[in-house]
Amino acid sequence: MAELLVADGLNKAFGPTPALDGASISIDAGEIVAVMGPSGSGKSTLLHCLAGIVRPDSGQVRYEGREVTAMPDRERSALRRRQFGFVFQFGQLVPELTCLENVALPLRMERVRRRAAEQRAMEWLERLEVTDVAGKRPGEVSGGQGQRVAVARALVTNPRVIFADEPTGALDSLNGERVMRLLTQSARESHAAVVLVTHEARVASYSDREVVVRDGRVRDLTGARRG
Ligand SMILES: Nc1ncnc2c1ncn2[C@@H]1O[C@H](COP(=O)(O)OP(=O)(O)OP(=O)(O)O)[C@@H](O)[C@H]1O
Ligand SMILES: [Mg+2]
Repeated sequence: MAELLVADGLNKAFGPTPALDGASISIDAGEIVAVMGPSGSGKSTLLHCLAGIVRPDSGQVRYEGREVTAMPDRERSALRRRQFGFVFQFGQLVPELTCLENVALPLRMERVRRRAAEQRAMEWLERLEVTDVAGKRPGEVSGGQGQRVAVARALVTNPRVIFADEPTGALDSLNGERVMRLLTQSARESHAAVVLVTHEARVASYSDREVVVRDGRVRDLTGARRG
């Protein structure tokens, strides 16, 4: 059991009210962690701190023992590009590009040649069961299809951690389930850890562990079960 990503006593305030108030969490390699909790409790802020997008006011984030919170910006963005994948509530696909080009984009940014990048992108579209939209632009596909394309894009670089913030929040329950199943299944196949913020009640069947964020702190719901 290898500790991959650790947050240790994170504090973060926006103005007078704290968003994080001593939040700690540890994520193992390949582990799928569901993060739940009421609106405004600090879930997104925690995810952004873990991903090196937001710098906490105090506390530490460590990835493979390296202190993310102390890294210069350039190193942090390289870490995000190479080791992390992201899926948000609305896929944030580039509207001018086709779905295939969207999935290939992270590889192109790492200077992979177009043919090779698009070939790998197509394999991911297959895994996410959306090859039929490869040539379409995001504006021409359904919400569920768009999210599956976004998941493919998040996984195409073989990241070690996927950060997903309510990836099914804008979908009906049937499409939500499908995205959730394909996301977690694909992550498991590529041994990626997942930090999954969700309100889905049935998330337990997809995750290894559930935590709840309340008032800026993390409580492990399944700690006892894990020993
Ligand atoms: N950029 C920001 N500027 C000001 N306040 C913020 C900002 N981001 C978050 N907050 C505040 O920090 C607290 C935690 O917000 P956060 O977005 O982390 O909650 P959340 O648990 O993700 O909520 P939700 O379930 O609604 O997405 C809230 O009180 C929120 O208003
Ligand atoms: Mg949020």
